[in-house]
Amino acid sequence: MPEPDLTTRIETLLEAMTLEEKIGQLTLVSAGWAVTGPQVSGDYMAALRAGRIGAISNLWGAEQTREVQRVAVEETRLGVPLMFAFDVIHGHRTIFPIPLAEAAAFDPGLWERTARAAATEAAADGLTLAFAPMLDVARDPRWGRIAESPGEDPWLAARFAEAKVRGFQGQGIAEADSVAATAKHLAGYGASIAGRDYASVEVSERTFHEVYLPPFRAAVDAGVAAIMPAFHDLAGVPMTANQTVLRGLVREGWRFDGVMVSDHGAVAELIAHGVAEDDAEAAALALRAGVDIDLMGGAYGRGLPVALERDHVTSAEIDAAVRRVLTLKARLGLLDDPYRRCDAAPAPARAEAHREVARDAGRRSIVLLTNRDGVLPLRDGMRIAVIGPLADARDDMLGPWAAAGRAENMVTILDGLREALPGSEIVHAPGVEIAGGDADGIAAALDLARSAEIVVLCLGEARRMSGEAASRARPDLPGRQPELAQAVLGLGKPVVALLSSGRPLVAPWLFERAHAVLATWFLGSEAGHAVGDVLSGRWNPTGRLPVSWPVELGQVPIFYAQRPTGRPPDPAVHYSSKYLDLPVEPLFPFGHGLSYTRFELGGLRTSAGELRPGGSIAIECDVVNQGPVAGEETLLLFVRDPIASVARPLLELKGMTKITLEPRQQGTVRFTLPADDLTFLGPDLMPRLEPGIVELYVGRTANKDTALKTSIRLLAS
Ligand code: NOJ
Repeated sequence: MPEPDLTTRIETLLEAMTLEEKIGQLTLVSAGWAVTGPQVSGDYMAALRAGRIGAISNLWGAEQTREVQRVAVEETRLGVPLMFAFDVIHGHRTIFPIPLAEAAAFDPGLWERTARAAATEAAADGLTLAFAPMLDVARDPRWGRIAESPGEDPWLAARFAEAKVRGFQGQGIAEADSVAATAKHLAGYGASIAGRDYASVEVSERTFHEVYLPPFRAAVDAGVAAIMPAFHDLAGVPMTANQTVLRGLVREGWRFDGVMVSDHGAVAELIAHGVAEDDAEAAALALRAGVDIDLMGGAYGRGLPVALERDHVTSAEIDAAVRRVLTLKARLGLLDDPYRRCDAAPAPARAEAHREVARDAGRRSIVLLTNRDGVLPLRDGMRIAVIGPLADARDDMLGPWAAAGRAENMVTILDGLREALPGSEIVHAPGVEIAGGDADGIAAALDLARSAEIVVLCLGEARRMSGEAASRARPDLPGRQPELAQAVLGLGKPVVALLSSGRPLVAPWLFERAHAVLATWFLGSEAGHAVGDVLSGRWNPTGRLPVSWPVELGQVPIFYAQRPTGRPPDPAVHYSSKYLDLPVEPLFPFGHGLSYTRFELGGLRTSAGELRPGGSIAIECDVVNQGPVAGEETLLLFVRDPIASVARPLLELKGMTKITLEPRQQGTVRFTLPADDLTFLGPDLMPRLEPGIVELYVGRTANKDTALKTSIRLLAS
């Protein structure tokens, strides 16, 4: 809540406002683009001067925002400052790895650092509101937006949420180098039917609460300033109009008192959803559900006055929304100093420091999926053919949602390898285009590959093949890339394949035939340096999959936290839960990721055999680095409740920790498990702790067979 004098200021403003000005505060419009960057078009300036706009998105730059803010402050009747919003999804000017890649670092400290760096850059460009973090649990690689998500696991996504909110909002959103964060898209969007963007979602209430909501709850508990409801309908109720969830659960249940901003045009789209007849009905539904700001649809502007006349909304409801918007503006410090973030140009020193963060984030995001015969790391001094359309693809390194990032500032994989292996002779041919195109370049690429000792094959997706509206019914290597890869593999040389993509790609043949495969996602500004660090062995890979990697498309949606069935999969048993033509297991499980060294685990122990409600237990195990080089190991704690009133998943992630060890060095890792973390929703969907045995697993991946196991007893009191 704002200070008492701010409350008075807000109330005074509110009283002075006409209905049109109030609705203006609830209206966010998007700036247009000029050749040189974003600009506000003439039509908006008239609306702005008339007090019909409260916030603008896609406009940044200290000068641009300052000028438009000046108009809001000096040329509108009440001088209420604007908020400037932007999709700062994985960096602002410095581009960090896409969220799915960054999730692979399993590192909240890193997640916070990249968000902090992004916030300082965004704020220096006049921005006040980031449409991030995106917190949709995603289990279907067809869905393009899996690239923006922290992956398949609710616990991991919740840690991601907290870290990102801390990073964006820093010491407080009033600070000149902080921005308000927006947790989006509430909720369940990742489960859109058949992975198609904007499609309906059908999930049980239990799964909605246990899988899709926890990251949003974590963001609210971390003090997130704003929430964006998702585009989709949940079992027929569009989220933008979902009173039960937005108002009932989030506002009343979780006590979220920040701002809810609709997704782009989502209020007006309630008509297309088939739940509203016109703008007035759409506006009334959204406002009454708790949506304060209409992003770009204009439905509030057109519809709220009519809805008020029809008594579908009350003035008090409109005032409540305006109050929340003004409160956010006050919390951002805008009422005191509207230009707080419009006067600092990004300092070059900071940009350098942020590139270092981007490089560290990049290498920590890379996942070494296979490494046969220790083909990696590469020795310097070899003749290396770098083949494939993603090797020198500067623009694609940006990934989807590149904010203010520019292609010319990206380090390509080719550049990075040349720097990392200065004694090597590196030759390059793209071979084919990323998508489409012909196969004419394959012959020349093969000639180069023939003359090399080893081939680095750079394959994957173009940056716009993932992200919003980029679902793919066949999430595999596009265009003629399979032909190129098969031809190169046919040469019989060692091949290291790098997959630049916004999702796990289905290409089982590649994993069988290449000596090594790495998920290099879209790593941003320092992509090439990060890849160079890993391939040269200067960085021992630490990345781990935040999503299960399917063998074939027929397995999706695929995730580790399955429930037990009465007929567990068994290839030898006909009437079991299996496929006739595929294994049920993914190609690589959640948590998979190799290192250049080998860690052994042992000695799993707990601080007690019993746990009481309200208490917690310490879990420890020993780790030895048995390999030739120093390395960082990530260990995951999973639990299983084998007998409960509701069937619990076969494994549930509850902890993660890291340890760095020199060769032959031994260390101990420790987790703390509070009893509260074993709470689940009973048959009545009410939270409960059930006494009984709880199995504990500590391992590298979501695989019971390779993890250490023990159990404890949860007591009734
Ligand atoms: C639509 C996207 O779903 C959302 O993530 C984004 O923040 C808005 N457009 C604004 O660009």
